Amino acid sequence: MRVQGGAASVAACVLIGGAAGCAGVQSALDPGGDEAATVARLFWTMTAGALVIWAGVVALGWYYGRPHEEAPSPRRDRWLILGSGVVFPVTVLTALLAYGLWMLPPLVSRAPEGSLTVEVVGEQWWWRVRYLDATGAPLVELANEIRLPVGEPVQFRLSSDNVIHSFWIPSLGGKMDMIPGRTTYLTLHPTRVGTFAGACAEYCGTAHGYMRFMVDVMDPAAFDGWLAGQRQVAVEPQTPETQRGRDVLRRAGCGACHTVRGTSADGLIGPDLTHVGSRMSLGAAGLSTDAATLERWVSAPERLKPGVHMPAFQMMGSDDIRALAAYLERLE
Ligand code: CUA
Repeated sequence: MRVQGGAASVAACVLIGGAAGCAGVQSALDPGGDEAATVARLFWTMTAGALVIWAGVVALGWYYGRPHEEAPSPRRDRWLILGSGVVFPVTVLTALLAYGLWMLPPLVSRAPEGSLTVEVVGEQWWWRVRYLDATGAPLVELANEIRLPVGEPVQFRLSSDNVIHSFWIPSLGGKMDMIPGRTTYLTLHPTRVGTFAGACAEYCGTAHGYMRFMVDVMDPAAFDGWLAGQRQVAVEPQTPETQRGRDVLRRAGCGACHTVRGTSADGLIGPDLTHVGSRMSLGAAGLSTDAATLERWVSAPERLKPGVHMPAFQMMGSDDIRALAAYLERLE
């Protein structure tokens, strides 16, 4: 009975785990875009094919493993070996190769001229995201977050100036490497409104596992409104505390690394903070952007994200850090 119970538990785990792996915000098997649908179709086709072949091999093994009454037939055995050892694999692998090559061109083709172009740069260990205009000049810059209009192609321009990263939004499409000294391209066609998760798919150093981002696929009108909002400069602080926070940001030298458009902070090393309070996450999709988390982040970023290049600013004193966090939270 115990063995049967154990087997049932294992089967339940496989079924539940398998089903859970097929859905969610970061599943290649729950497509939200044309490219991911193609990848999922290839996966299911190959899985079905593998099951059929596995069943055939088990059946053959069973047939030839059972006790035989009839006399051995070297001629039949030779044909069996030639058929299942040469003809069958060559046919199946050729068909798979042809199917895979036939799928390839749409996956690597560029988006039509005039499509939305988003540049993503792999940093250590976060994602610099720039929306570009028709001439290739940046309209806005943000970090670890991409918003896209549903039903429209988007052209990603991918690069890195440090090590190789790999840009991957499983629900929307396949991965693409970001290689220092080269620009790579990825075209995606989101087909479903929703929030998806992306990740770095190439080991790139200490905080590789923390290098995530969020993707929000929106209605085109909502997307246009969001982009227009992102193009605005930072809001002016309205309360004594947030005004103190802005002064702390200036005094502590945050502007050496960070930009807050509309202020004197124009650093390019770290993420642009102009609208950091409206972001879906902080610290490459690991944390929320509320004041309490921002306070912890400024005090000791290394505790929240091991390997982060930003130094701790504990020496500023807790009142100043609290004011700074309140200011950043309201940068929406
Ligand atoms: Cu970037 Cu792994």
